[in-house]
Amino acid sequence: MPTTLLQSNLSGLEMIHRGKVRDVYALSGNRLLIVATDRLSAFDVVLPDPIPGKGEMLTQISNFWFGKTAHIVPNHLLYTPLEDVLPSDTNVALYSKRAVVTKRLKPVPVEAIARGYLIGSGWKDYQTIGSLCGIKLPAGLRQAEQLPEPIFTPSTKAAVGDHDENVSFDVMAAAVGKELAEQVRDATLAIYKWAAAYAAERGIIIADTKFEFGTDEDGKLYVMDEMLTPDSSRFWPADQYQIGISPPSYDKQFVRDYLETLVWNKKAPGPRVPAEVIAGTSAKYAEALQRLAGITLE
Ligand SMILES: Nc1ncnc2c1ncn2[C@@H]1O[C@H](COP(=O)(O)OP(=O)(O)OP(=O)(O)O)[C@@H](O)[C@H]1O
Ligand SMILES: [Mg+2]
Repeated sequence: MPTTLLQSNLSGLEMIHRGKVRDVYALSGNRLLIVATDRLSAFDVVLPDPIPGKGEMLTQISNFWFGKTAHIVPNHLLYTPLEDVLPSDTNVALYSKRAVVTKRLKPVPVEAIARGYLIGSGWKDYQTIGSLCGIKLPAGLRQAEQLPEPIFTPSTKAAVGDHDENVSFDVMAAAVGKELAEQVRDATLAIYKWAAAYAAERGIIIADTKFEFGTDEDGKLYVMDEMLTPDSSRFWPADQYQIGISPPSYDKQFVRDYLETLVWNKKAPGPRVPAEVIAGTSAKYAEALQRLAGITLE
C-alpha cells in the first residue's frame, strides 16, 4: 500500500520551506532533505485532500529520470541513505520512497521550460502574438501541433499566489547573466530531447516540461527539484494524440476538469474532492510511473 502524508513533521530538523508539494529541511554539510508530500495543488491552490502515494510516485519518477540523465546534466541527488539523516524516532516507511537527500544549491530564479508541442500558455501566446518568449514560429500551426524543433521558453518564478510569466531569452539573460542563461537553455533542451525520445518508445509524448536549476559554491550548474513528473510536465498517451484538440494527459487535468464543474473562485481555501476523483488522480500518477519508469509501488 502507498503511504499517505499531508504534512511532514520531523522534530529536530530545521524546516526551511514548505512549498505547495514539498517540505524542505536543512541538513549539515550544505545538504537538504526534501520530502514530497501527497498534497495536490490545482490552479496554484493546495487542496485539502491528499492523493495517497502521490509524493512517493513523484519522487520515484524524478529519481528514475535523474539517474537516466545524469550523463547529460549533473543533478542535486546525493544518494545518502535516509536512515543516516532522519531523526531516530521517525517512521522510516513513511519517508523511504518520498524523501531524498540533495545538495543545497542556489536556485536560478527562472522556470526552465522546454516545449516540443504547442499547448497551454504557449498555444495562447502563439494565437495572440504569433511568437513565444520572443521566438518567432511558423504561421498556421494548430493546437497541440509538434513544433519544428523543441524550444526553450523560460518563465519567471512568481511569488506565492501569482502566476508565472513567459519571458524572452534576453530578459532571462539580463536577469541571471548570459553565460548562465545559455547553460540553462542548453541543459534544458538536452534533457528534454533525450527524455522525449525515451518516452516516445514507450508510447508517451512529453509535450512540454519544466526544470529548476541551481548552482553550487563554484558556480557549477545542477538540475534540482523534481524532474519529468506529471506535476512538471505534460505527458500525452501517443495513441490518443490528435492535432487540433487538447489531448488527455497524465497530469492534473482529471482534477482540474472536476474543479471546473464547481462554483469556486480558484483562491484558497480549495474545495474538497470526491473519493473517486482522488482515486482517479492517484491511478493517473501510478500509470505514468509504470509506463515511463516500469515501476509499480506496492
Ligand atoms: N537542491 C535544491 N537546492 C535548493 N532548493 C531546492 C533544491 N531542490 C528543490 N529546491 C526548492 O525546494 C522547493 C520545493 O518545494 P515545492 O516543489 O513544493 O515548491 P513549489 O510549491 O513548487 O514552489 P514554491 O517554492 O514557490 O512554493 C522549491 O522552492 C525548489 O525551488
Ligand atoms: Mg515545485
